[in-house]
This record gives sequence, structure tokens and C-alpha cells, in this order.
Amino acid sequence: MTEEHSLLEPENVEGVGDEWEEIDVSDTEADKVQRQRDREFNKFRERLKNTEQFKVEQSVFDDATLAALYKLVQDGYVQAFGGPLSSGKEANVYSALGSEERGEVAVKVYRINASDFRDMREYLVGDPRFEELGGNKKRVVLAWTRKEFANLKRARKAGVRVPEPIAVQRNVLVMEFLGSDGERAPTLDDAHLENPETTFEVVREYMRRLYDAGLVHGDLSEYNIIVHDGELVIIDLGQAVTIHHPNSGEFLTRDCANVASFFQRQGMDVRGDELEAWIRDNADPSK
Ligand SMILES: Nc1ncnc2c1ncn2[C@@H]1O[C@H](COP(=O)(O)OP(=O)(O)O)[C@@H](O)[C@H]1O
Ligand SMILES: [Mg+2]
Repeated sequence: MTEEHSLLEPENVEGVGDEWEEIDVSDTEADKVQRQRDREFNKFRERLKNTEQFKVEQSVFDDATLAALYKLVQDGYVQAFGGPLSSGKEANVYSALGSEERGEVAVKVYRINASDFRDMREYLVGDPRFEELGGNKKRVVLAWTRKEFANLKRARKAGVRVPEPIAVQRNVLVMEFLGSDGERAPTLDDAHLENPETTFEVVREYMRRLYDAGLVHGDLSEYNIIVHDGELVIIDLGQAVTIHHPNSGEFLTRDCANVASFFQRQGMDVRGDELEAWIRDNADPSK
């Protein structure tokens, strides 16, 4: 365990609760276990609430989010939380210590209240995988988190290098950590490119594979591509839509324009419309 990870083991939880007063001897074993859980959850919650890194925008995560984090700890996906990696518009990303075998993981927490719910709905409408959603903000954010998890799986299956999805619980997603020793790997924007031509070919092939698997990223740019261990990794697939989405064509055009513009700045002669034509010609999402 590295130093920046704060411990969550019960022996490090301060103070002893007043368990004797709370235990009802007529309870079943299951009731007691549940109650014990609740008390431990309360301690966990108090601990996280007093931890600087979980204070987001003058407040802390709501109890349901803390319960989701707690469940991930209980289920062994997370042993300890590390420092924040990013605070975005809709989500905060943290480094964490995962299971024994796994080592470091990244934990992305979508904020129920701060997220721009209208923007999210736009991406969810028309996606046959998420047809049943009502106008409830919480449900939209929860579906969004599951959507990112599902998109990561689908992309991986299609041979696109993305962070391996590990677990999803409510508005919290646990995935492979890209980086080492708590330091996140650079984005394409930060990285120094020795060979922009090869880099472009890899990005183009990943875009083709995604499209071939029926997905359009929808927010692809040098900021959502990570350079890790000499590999390019596509991240941030929450908003990715299937080709059935009414705006998927528009999103593909925009992704191609962003990617082309980045590589133009690297001195290359690439165009968004040519990139899009190449992807469409070389993929068969309808199969
Ligand atoms: N799996 C990961 N490993 C390491 N860093 C990550 C990982 N996922 C995200 N990050 C970091 O967090 C930042 C924001 O993550 P991202 O998924 O793009 O969310 P947002 O929707 O806020 O843009 C990324 O630019 C990257 O630096
Ligand atoms: Mg991003």
C-alpha cells in the first residue's frame, strides 16, 4: 500500500459505537448482521465525510453515493481511496487501491446533483439500450454510469484499448488505472509525440473498430485519449452512443473533426471529412 492511500480497514476506524444499546436480543442473526453493517457504514460515511479529497464543491457526496462506495469496499473491489485524479463537469475520478491481485484502480464518481442532466438525456434518448428512462435525474445519472460500463465492455470486445471495466455500483464506476504510483498517465494533449503518423493510424483504427461495433464515441479528442505504457487508450465513454441514436452521424462527424484538427496541429495533412469517409468505408456496423 502506498502512502497516499488512506486506509479503510475497520481497525483504523476511530471510536467504538454504542452497540449494546442497539442490539435487540430478539433479532434474528440476519437482522444483527444488517445492523452491524449499518453501524459500520455510518463509521465509513463519517470517515469519508471528513476526508478532504471527497469534498466536492463545498459539500461532500450524498449518502447514497457513500453507500455505493461502501458496497464496493465490502465487495472487495476497493481497499482504500487515494487522491483525486480529476474533477470534471459531471464526474470526479480518484485513484484507489483495488483488490490484492489488481493493485491500483481508478474510481469515477458521477455527481447526481452537479451533472447537467439535460445534456445527458440527449445522449440517452434514442439509444435502444436505455429506452425505459423517465425524467428522473437520479435514474438518468445511474443509467449513464451503467452506460459507460457497458460501452467500455463493448469497446474492449471490439478490440479497442480502453480501461478495463471492473465494477459498477449506482453512480460509481471502478476501472483499470492508467498510470503508475498514483500518477495518472498523460493525455494525448500532454504527451510528446515522436511519431504522429503512427499515432494517427492507431486512433483511426480504434475509431473504425468502435464504429464497426456499432458505437460512436461522441466526445473524442486529444483530451480523451491517454498514452499509457506506450499504448493509446480511449477513455470517457459515458456519452458514447450506438449508431441507432438519431445524432450518431453528427457525433461521428464532430469526433473526426476534433481528431483531424489535433493531427493537423502536429503537422499532418489530415481532414475530418476524409477520416469520416474512411471509417464509413471500412466498417460495417449493420452486420
Ligand atoms: N482509468 C483511468 N486511469 C487514470 N486516469 C484516468 C482514468 N479515467 C480517467 N482518468 C483521468 O481523469 C480525467 C477525466 O476522466 P474522464 O473519464 O475523461 O471524465 P470527464 O467526463 O470528467 O472528462 C482524464 O482526463 C484522466 O486524466
Ligand atoms: Mg474526459
